[in-house]
Amino acid sequence: MSDKVDILLLGAGGREHALLSKLAASPRAGRLYVAPGNGGMYALAERADVDQDSPEAVAAFAQDHGIGLVVIGPEAPLVEGVADAVRAAGIPCFGPGAQAAQMEGSKQFAKEVMARAGVPTAAYRAFTEEEPCAAYVREVGGPVVVKADGLAAGKGVIVAQTTEEALEGVHECFSGHFGAAGSTVVVEEMLEGPECSLLALTDGKTVVPLATAQDHKRALDGDKGPNTGGMGVYSPVPLVTPDEYAAMVDIENRVVAELAAEGIRYTGCLYGGFMLTKDGPKVLEFNARFGDPETQVVLPRMHADLIDAFLACDAGTLDQVAIDWEDDWAVCVVLTSAGYPGSYEKGKAITGIERAEELPGVTVYHAGTAVDKDGRLVTNGGRVLNVTAVAPTFEAARAQAYAACELIDFEGKTFRHDIGHRAVEPRA
Ligand code: AMP
Ligand code: GLY
Repeated sequence: MSDKVDILLLGAGGREHALLSKLAASPRAGRLYVAPGNGGMYALAERADVDQDSPEAVAAFAQDHGIGLVVIGPEAPLVEGVADAVRAAGIPCFGPGAQAAQMEGSKQFAKEVMARAGVPTAAYRAFTEEEPCAAYVREVGGPVVVKADGLAAGKGVIVAQTTEEALEGVHECFSGHFGAAGSTVVVEEMLEGPECSLLALTDGKTVVPLATAQDHKRALDGDKGPNTGGMGVYSPVPLVTPDEYAAMVDIENRVVAELAAEGIRYTGCLYGGFMLTKDGPKVLEFNARFGDPETQVVLPRMHADLIDAFLACDAGTLDQVAIDWEDDWAVCVVLTSAGYPGSYEKGKAITGIERAEELPGVTVYHAGTAVDKDGRLVTNGGRVLNVTAVAPTFEAARAQAYAACELIDFEGKTFRHDIGHRAVEPRA
């Protein structure tokens, strides 16, 4: 097929910048729109004035503008049912409908599907009231994991080493610290081992695993500090054995098949977050979308026409799409605003991106950036830029990514210095 496709992409993060870059590189790319987008995306796409979380508004915009594909980046519009509204308007959409998106939107829903599909995951109990929850935590004792059910931007998880810490977490969740996401609280068995993300494309029948990636969730070097939305990532993950890889792929197939058997068609990206335990990979969580920042290292290594692949996910023809992989390695370092994931300042001028991108293999994806009224590129979020390098070895990719980080400047620039340490350390 060579017809041009006009596309509306929803989202504003580094993940969406990476998706947009890959979509724009397709020979089939027609007019590209983003809502809301960020400071790096408007060079590639027009800004659409539409509320990304409103199913009616997105469907109406897509109809009015002759859009041939709506791509949904973040979880909130998926859970709101934007994909359902777009499909109801007869327009292809990349991303699951609201019901299937509960795999991310509700940990309890996901756990129940996993149980029915026979997928290994941490034992858990869900609570809607603080007292029984606290009593259960006292009974099982630490170490234990406490999670706010629902969407909390990757931050509603307390990995508690002690019972005390866990009880504080329970109280935090029930006292509204994570907003509505905390009204149900899940207490989970703590799993141990290295983590691995495996993104997969699916049309509801065929599941095509993409490359492995490893995120770094903690804010500080040495995996210290609070959980964040992700501080850096690399791909592939060399410590994953062929058996572990096969087990992760099997788990994703089983989940998609189980949902299908229950009458729920899951299409789009299924993101499995796994702990590689000594008893094999176990699921930490599923997300109903591409990972951020995993996408920023997976897509640059992927040889495929992303427009064809996304349309095939919607149409149910993913078995006909060819996807190949580059042997190269990719490393991405996230530059954050000082203070993240707590409070931080915005509006700081950013310089040096062009120089950084002159380094071979380096691409800088924008996340929390904006263009101010004077036309300057400024910081506009906690995770500001995703500095990604692709090279023939892990060491070269990492060195290049860090060299690029040094060339970029903004007040409060902060980053982890040990992204990818597990790629070179012996497995614990
Ligand atoms: P989640 O948003 O559920 O993926 O949790 C965020 C992070 O918390 C994960 O990437 C893990 O590092 C950690 N975590 C979540 N659940 C568990 C668990 N059951 N055992 C150990 N660590 C966990
Ligand atoms: N990398 C974590 C996430 O996308 O949820």
